[in-house]
Amino acid sequence: MDSAFETDPELLEKVINLAKRRGFTFQSAEIYGGFRSTYDYGPLGVNMLRNVKAAWWRDMVQLRQDVVGIDAAILGPPAVWAASGHLETFTDPLVDCRTCKERFREDKIDGVCPNCGSTQFTEARAFNLMFKTQAGPVEGEGATAYLRPETAQGMFTNFNNVLFTTRKKPPFGVAQVGKSFRNEITPQNFVFRTREFEQMEMEYFVPPAEADEWYRYWIDVRYNWYLGLGIPSDKLRLHEHATEDLSHYSRGTTDVEFAYPWGWDELEGVANRGDYDLTQHSNASGTKLEYFDQTANERYTPYVIEPAAGATRAMMAFLLAAYHEDVVEGETRTVLRLDWRLAPYQVAVLPLSKKPELEGVSQEVLSLLQPHFACDYDVTQSIGRRYRRQDEVGTPYCITVDFDSLEDRAVTVRDRDTTLQVRVPIAHLLAALRERTNQN
Ligand code: GAP
Repeated sequence: MDSAFETDPELLEKVINLAKRRGFTFQSAEIYGGFRSTYDYGPLGVNMLRNVKAAWWRDMVQLRQDVVGIDAAILGPPAVWAASGHLETFTDPLVDCRTCKERFREDKIDGVCPNCGSTQFTEARAFNLMFKTQAGPVEGEGATAYLRPETAQGMFTNFNNVLFTTRKKPPFGVAQVGKSFRNEITPQNFVFRTREFEQMEMEYFVPPAEADEWYRYWIDVRYNWYLGLGIPSDKLRLHEHATEDLSHYSRGTTDVEFAYPWGWDELEGVANRGDYDLTQHSNASGTKLEYFDQTANERYTPYVIEPAAGATRAMMAFLLAAYHEDVVEGETRTVLRLDWRLAPYQVAVLPLSKKPELEGVSQEVLSLLQPHFACDYDVTQSIGRRYRRQDEVGTPYCITVDFDSLEDRAVTVRDRDTTLQVRVPIAHLLAALRERTNQN
């Protein structure tokens, strides 16, 4: 077996159970029997998902001078999706099993029905993955709208708006994080493929002659982003698509792949979209989406390099990579070794006992840390049980307030990964935690 794959065949089940049990994800509309393949993010899940998106925004927008953000509408008119090619080509081959009548994506089943084992299927037909809806109270043509299947088009249709308001010049990028919707035929594997999901995409506009160089640059940057946030290198690889597998807009695509429990699969795609999108929208709208290079006195349509990631899918990969079971003091514990930037809580404040004497100083410690870190506060059960509960959800640091704290004005800081504990004066606590998380 490839070393990239966990030997634990139950890893996926364990992570799904943990996610449900501890409030990362809930089946949507569960009290009504659940709505297939849609998930709600609970108190811990929403923290972690926001952290994934914040880490992406920080690295892709905040720390760069060549990338700006937008937040475009989810609903769009058919004209956008006709020009982008989605109305015509954003389809999957749909087949029906002739025996049990279940529907599948033809390319996912190897000719055998996963439900009943039959090999008899209907002819494949193209099934468009976009969700169609009505805008306004009047039905019919003119009222049709689509939920976006990718955030990308909002960056292309706003190309001139961004160019004129920011005075950027190629190479520059426009980034967006938000929901996208695809009527997937076979949603599967927890939040890996769902009908409603979140994307983190950036369209990087470049002079055509520089496209290949920037394509390679962004593949490298995006691969290293996952490494930097704690996914080990043996669980990541790059996979360049063969020409015949490219999407309708792509001149080259390389996926960052992750070693999921079911094998290597896509985490993010980096594509060279050429001038496809800007040309299509220029032609269809009659508005020229071009750049005028004053130095060269030349007008041209930039090429686009697009790193396109899934926020929800990335969160799942971070959870899978972080999940560990180890033995501490003779007891097996579950621990999520999440990077502190992704952990739902970075700090837990744990008064040793419920006795009221500890309440004041514990609240003082909480108030000191809350403006800087996402903090949990837990007084229930034994301290050992509370450490395990925090380990299980990936909290990097537990701060224990005990009776000595009342005298020495110090607390114990316990490290999730080593379980080592050190005594730190409350006056130095914030600086000590900042140092541990490399924030100065
Ligand atoms: N704009 C290009 C684009 O959308 P994509 O490869 O179809 O490319 C980009 O999607 C990323 O969005 C994927 O790598 C994946 O992380 C995420 N994604 C796509 N479809 C998804 C789905 N049904 N459920 C969850 N994530 C999805």
